[in-house]
Amino acid sequence: MQRIIAPSMLSADFGHLDRDTRMVDRSAAQWVHIDVMDGVFVPNISFGFPVLAPIRRATTKLLDVHLMIVEPEKYALRFVEAGADLVTIHYEATADPAACLRAIRAAGARAGISIKPATPVGVLRDLLPLLDLVLVMSVEPGFGGQSFIPEALDKIRELRTMIDRAGTATLIEVDGGISARNAREVFEAGADAVVAGSAVFKAADPEAEIGRILNA
Ligand code: DX5
Ligand code: ZN
Repeated sequence: MQRIIAPSMLSADFGHLDRDTRMVDRSAAQWVHIDVMDGVFVPNISFGFPVLAPIRRATTKLLDVHLMIVEPEKYALRFVEAGADLVTIHYEATADPAACLRAIRAAGARAGISIKPATPVGVLRDLLPLLDLVLVMSVEPGFGGQSFIPEALDKIRELRTMIDRAGTATLIEVDGGISARNAREVFEAGADAVVAGSAVFKAADPEAEIGRILNA
């Protein structure tokens, strides 16, 4: 199984967004993770379309957009138009996740769903045929730099079994508190992709750190 790493631009230096995106672009990372927060679904506000545009221009890598916003159906397609290759919505943020996932795919992007630490993986069983990705949160969404919640490992294992039984090609991505110290157990639990924000951007050599996380 190929390991994927998605550095989170939330921890980049926004005064040097072009430089930091180009660093990710030449690194071993395959995806670029973009955290969009609305101050309602989570108690923090990050950035939106105007910030996505220069990131899109600075990399050809897969843009992995994580929407931490209520009613994602209102904005998901605008993120596809802005260059997102994969749009992930939160299960807890919408009354009709299936309709939103179908719309994202119809617009030509891959569709993902994320679950907060308290949401059990079982709620996703019937949605699997619509899902290119499930994003398991290993911290409460809203902020970078938090500690990994170890209970996430059991959720990853349970989800891996559920996906294997369903026979879909759904990838598992894990987000929050991941570094070279714990990436190995996250991958071994069944994750295909890991997000890393502060571990990458606070490292003395971010590009080398991406390699260390991939090969943990
Ligand atoms: C948190 C975001 C994460 C965050 C991860 O709500 O979804 O993607 O940037 O940051 P670290 O890797 O620092 O926990
Ligand atoms: Zn994220």
